[in-house]
Amino acid sequence: MSAAELNSKFGLAGVVEFAEAEHGLIKAAVSRAGMTGELYLQGAHVTAWQPAGARPVIFTSSRAVFVPGKAIRGGVPVIFPWFGPHPTDPAQPQHGVARTAEWELDAVEQSAEGVALELSLSPDGFALRYRVVFGEELRLTLAVRNTSSSAASFEEALHSYFAISDVERVTISGLEDSSFIDKTVGMQLCPPAGAPLMLSKETDQVYLNTPDGRVVHDPGWGRRIVVSTSAAASTIVWNPWPEKAAAMADLGADNWRGMVCVETGNVADNRVHLPSGATHEMMTRITVDAG
Ligand code: BG6
Repeated sequence: MSAAELNSKFGLAGVVEFAEAEHGLIKAAVSRAGMTGELYLQGAHVTAWQPAGARPVIFTSSRAVFVPGKAIRGGVPVIFPWFGPHPTDPAQPQHGVARTAEWELDAVEQSAEGVALELSLSPDGFALRYRVVFGEELRLTLAVRNTSSSAASFEEALHSYFAISDVERVTISGLEDSSFIDKTVGMQLCPPAGAPLMLSKETDQVYLNTPDGRVVHDPGWGRRIVVSTSAAASTIVWNPWPEKAAAMADLGADNWRGMVCVETGNVADNRVHLPSGATHEMMTRITVDAG
């Protein structure tokens, strides 16, 4: 559907407007009572969310490339049905097929909690429904149904990039009691750290069996980003640090300090096993406060 067709079917003047962005990609711009948000239909990719009076909460790289079939650097990529490289076929794309696929927009609605966009995608053997609510909180719910005739398993993640004052000055709490896989040292399984996480080097850690709720404390901007979850057993924390960031054309040496990924997912040992016909629903809810 073109932006004009989407506007006539789903648009809400001044609240949800569709536009054709670079290279023909379609985006929805959302705004209500001082809150703004943005979502690309490619990947059902949230690229911005800023509650009224707050700084941006979601980081999108100033060098992000908006091209059909290429993952957008930043925002909230939807990772499905595998996390990282494909387990057996190196020719398959990193982080699965959902983040570069064109999703179908099924509904747009307003309620007291915010402006909701409902999207769907049907990759092989599954039916995905994704509900994005832009409001005073950003709530993301991904429902996966196994449409095949046998049991199936998958990995998934809502790969949120958060905007922060300085990655070397934030503290992440809620992961203290969880063991983690350190992807920077050959997927080594490490015991729980027993203390909140502060980043001082390249970090790529998959925390397993994490409790609901993690907090990014950002004293530089005098705020906390609070992430509440349900049916999400894994949390992934990632920042490439300057050397790797410089090698990524869509990030660059100057962008890494202002971001940290704290991702909600079910990956590795926490992958989801679903009987035929069953549905699994994972949710993440993001809010900001002064701490
Ligand atoms: C993280 C992974 O979730 O995503 C990292 O744990 C990866 O290993 C990062 O480098 C970014 O991935 P991509 O494919 O968007 O460059």
